[in-house]
Amino acid sequence: SVAEKFSLAGSQHPVVGVIGQEVVLPCQLSPPARLSNMEVLWRKIGTEFIPVHEYSDVGPKDQTGEGYQSRTELFPQEFSNGNVSLKLKRLQMTDGGRYHCYVKNLEWSQETTTELQVAAVAPVFIDVLGPQNSGIGLACRSTGWFPKPELQWVGKNLEMEFVTDVTQDTENLYSVVSYITVTEKENSGDISCIVQNGLLEPERQSAIHLTGGIFPQVSPWLIAFLILLALALIGVGACAYLGYTAKRKVSQKKRSEEEA
Ligand SMILES: *[C@@H]1O[C@H](CO)[C@@H](O)[C@H](O)[C@H]1NC(C)=O
Repeated sequence: SVAEKFSLAGSQHPVVGVIGQEVVLPCQLSPPARLSNMEVLWRKIGTEFIPVHEYSDVGPKDQTGEGYQSRTELFPQEFSNGNVSLKLKRLQMTDGGRYHCYVKNLEWSQETTTELQVAAVAPVFIDVLGPQNSGIGLACRSTGWFPKPELQWVGKNLEMEFVTDVTQDTENLYSVVSYITVTEKENSGDISCIVQNGLLEPERQSAIHLTGGIFPQVSPWLIAFLILLALALIGVGACAYLGYTAKRKVSQKKRSEEEA
């Protein structure tokens, strides 16, 4: 009978989609075949089933659930391969959850579920904050991540500890900011800030190259000035001494002349 012949499969692993982009939730009949008088019901599992997209050979061809208008698509050209996967477009944060694919006709019905995880990634920026203690302060910031991201500073000789702060906004998106002070000793090659959330490769990152001149240091002009000042003082001192001794000699001479 038909019931023994067919099975329906979704994805055993969660499908990961990115906010604003599209994703395909798989639902595959095997062996691949096109059921006659088929109905495909895609629904989201909440406290009850929320209609997402419903297709019927016999009734209305395509119906979209509330909140999914013009965001869903089946692949009718794939039906003959038993592929009744759902394309979900312009993903929203609230789309995350379990989806139920239910296929039936008069003689047969089966269902499967697939979990959708929605992720958000954002660009990463490095700010140069300027001289700080004996180095240059850098900040790395990125806003609009989901789920919670991790931040890492990477550099060749980097051994400074860094302070990272993670916050979540009202739309559940995470922001990260991290501060580091790079000393001239640690500065070799690029310094990168990498943000990732485990759900998605690739991560996002930003890199910076600090040139040697940016580091706070004792200016060579200051050193030259101090040396000149020292020499000048020595000179003044020497003149004063010579002047003093010369004056003394003169007055001694005068005195001896007077005595004589
Ligand atoms: C079903 O077809 C779509 C569109 O061609 C494709 O992206 C998807 O990978 C197919 N699904 C399966 C399970 O083959």
